[in-house]
Amino acid sequence: MKLIASLAVVGTAFAMASPALAQFAKPEDAVKYRQSALFVMAQHFGRIGAMASGRAPYDAKAAIVNAELVAMISKLPWAGFGPGTDKVTPTRAKPEIWTESAKFKEGHEKLVTEAEKLLTAAKTNNLDNLKVAFGAMANTCKGCHDSFRKE
Ligand code: HEC
Repeated sequence: MKLIASLAVVGTAFAMASPALAQFAKPEDAVKYRQSALFVMAQHFGRIGAMASGRAPYDAKAAIVNAELVAMISKLPWAGFGPGTDKVTPTRAKPEIWTESAKFKEGHEKLVTEAEKLLTAAKTNNLDNLKVAFGAMANTCKGCHDSFRKE
């Protein structure tokens, strides 16, 4: 009975804690996590970009595999931008991420939507569709970097 009661307390604590606070032991880990996720996402996004720009031959299967990874990974970095992770070095995150958090959130939610569209486009097995979706998503990367990432 006592055990069940304490499990219930633990469960509630987990449910209430924000994901960012719950996941990382220290702010440095959160920064490493978000940068790593962005790096890995960019690798797979870049492979699609190479096909979209003609630098690499179009491979419909590879496009789908990379788009699936991008769709999954695009959801990850944002948990690493929790409170207290703004002054950890080295980071290129601008302070505006925390002072204009609604705009930042809009940016990463848009990215997740664009990633889903990219995957849908990849699954049409049509390079033109892939190009359009890639371009739209690349604009979303740039839009956020212009506002929220230091040079
Ligand atoms: C909502 C804002 C936002 C969007 C959208 C976004 N980024 Fe970023 N990106 C950032 C911020 C902020 C940093 C700096 C993170 C840091 O240094 O802590 C960053 C860093 C990076 C890095 C450097 C990671 C490293 O190794 O430190 C890469 C690469 C990157 N982004 C690629 C992309 C690509 C590709 C896209 C689009 C597919 C994208 N980003 C979309 C905000 C964004």
